[in-house]
Amino acid sequence: MAGLQQCIKNKKAVVGVLGLGYVGLPLVREFASAGLSVKGFDIDPKKVRVLNSGRSIIKHIPHSQVKKIVSSGLFKATVDMSRLRTVDAILVCVPTPLTANREPDMQYIVASSQTIARYLRKGQLVSFESTTYPGTTRELVAPILESSGLKAGKDFYLAYSPEREDPGNKNFTTRTIPKIVGGYTNKCRDLARQLYAHAIEKMVPVSSLEAAEACKIVENVYRCINIAMVNELKMVFDRMGIDVWEVIRAASTKPFGFSPFYPGPGLGGHCIPIDPFYLTWKARQYGMPTRFIELAGEVNTSMPHYVVSKVMEALNHHKKSLKGSKVLVLGLAYKKDIDDLRESPSIELIELLREKGARVDYNDPYIPRTHRQRQHNLKMASKKLSAKMLSGYDCVLISTDHSDYDYAWIVRHSKLVVDTRNATATVRSGRSRIVKA
Ligand SMILES: NC(=O)c1ccc[n+]([C@@H]2O[C@H](COP(=O)([O-])OP(=O)(O)OC[C@H]3O[C@@H](n4cnc5c(N)ncnc54)[C@H](O)[C@@H]3O)[C@@H](O)[C@H]2O)c1
Repeated sequence: MAGLQQCIKNKKAVVGVLGLGYVGLPLVREFASAGLSVKGFDIDPKKVRVLNSGRSIIKHIPHSQVKKIVSSGLFKATVDMSRLRTVDAILVCVPTPLTANREPDMQYIVASSQTIARYLRKGQLVSFESTTYPGTTRELVAPILESSGLKAGKDFYLAYSPEREDPGNKNFTTRTIPKIVGGYTNKCRDLARQLYAHAIEKMVPVSSLEAAEACKIVENVYRCINIAMVNELKMVFDRMGIDVWEVIRAASTKPFGFSPFYPGPGLGGHCIPIDPFYLTWKARQYGMPTRFIELAGEVNTSMPHYVVSKVMEALNHHKKSLKGSKVLVLGLAYKKDIDDLRESPSIELIELLREKGARVDYNDPYIPRTHRQRQHNLKMASKKLSAKMLSGYDCVLISTDHSDYDYAWIVRHSKLVVDTRNATATVRSGRSRIVKA
């Protein structure tokens, strides 16, 4: 067991990353860039093939970065899980979605734990990063790993260190975002902290696995509730003829006690719309309601309906009905400048608009065509933007405020623009054609 500590200290530890997605790949890059040898594991052979050929699978991670770590020999990906035996630490970044009934879907955590248990050997460190409810690592993961016959904290080390990746954020990278870590034992935590410290600038140790799991949930509950609050205020202020974006911008000049959150067409992404409900589910086991979370969920999920009602109102002003109108949705990704459309409110907007009889297209420079998702299959392709095509739509609906868009040009050539992101704030001419929603 002292062996692992020494090999972490000497940067000789071989790091395995299980799950090479939006979270796993940046982690791979940080460890390999720090000079550690990294093996990537995924069940998706296509992903593995692409990565091993030195190409990226995520828009905001350039091919050059993957090429560099592959050609340096520090990174190789595989679908062969038996090679988990050959690494010193296994960092698990598999999905944690919700089931159709909005309950935690633990199938990926369970499956990856079973895979690790099959190949677990004495002295390895296993750290889970997937967002989950407090209690997961001790109650669900540890028993599965221990089915190998090895004991957590004794024969192998077990930790939980939540990922705080923020795709597309230009101010922070995986390396510069402080990372929380809790352990099955203090020794487990300290070993994980030492390992991560090679790749992450600041580690924040906490007293237990559960505290680390709860931290991540708190961060996302905080965002979910605050976004719901400004979404509700948006609707109230709209009725009162007040621009919520102007108010938030002015309010955020207060140098203390106020953090700005911005309204939008609804919640998107893998985290904020989902993670809080992991806590709701767990709290139920303790007979506790999570009323703030439920209320925030209610407000946030109603937002696409609000946006559609604003589109109908705006078309009505132009003596048109939504039924039969041509609507172009701008931006499909759940937030700007990324290519991730998981849980994107744009998808729901398109479905709602179609249900009401609109003819809907979309444009997104990051998403050339839609792919099948767990609950949606739009089967659409991005339409190329041109002045002529814009003028052919009855309404252009800005759902995601990608930086690439020239909003003044879009407004100039559109008959009507419904803006859910205040993306047209600085557009001077054609303001009478803009409706904020
Ligand atoms: N995307 C984000 O910005 C973000 C930020 C913070 C935390 N998280 C959390 O991180 C976790 C991973 O999210 P993600 O966005 O990287 O997901 P993802 O879907 O992009 O990647 C997950 C990867 O795991 C692979 N996988 C699934 N089951 C596997 C198994 N049994 N063995 C090996 N590989 C397996 C998938 O093929 C996929 O490549 C989730 O819990 C998420 O909530 C995500």
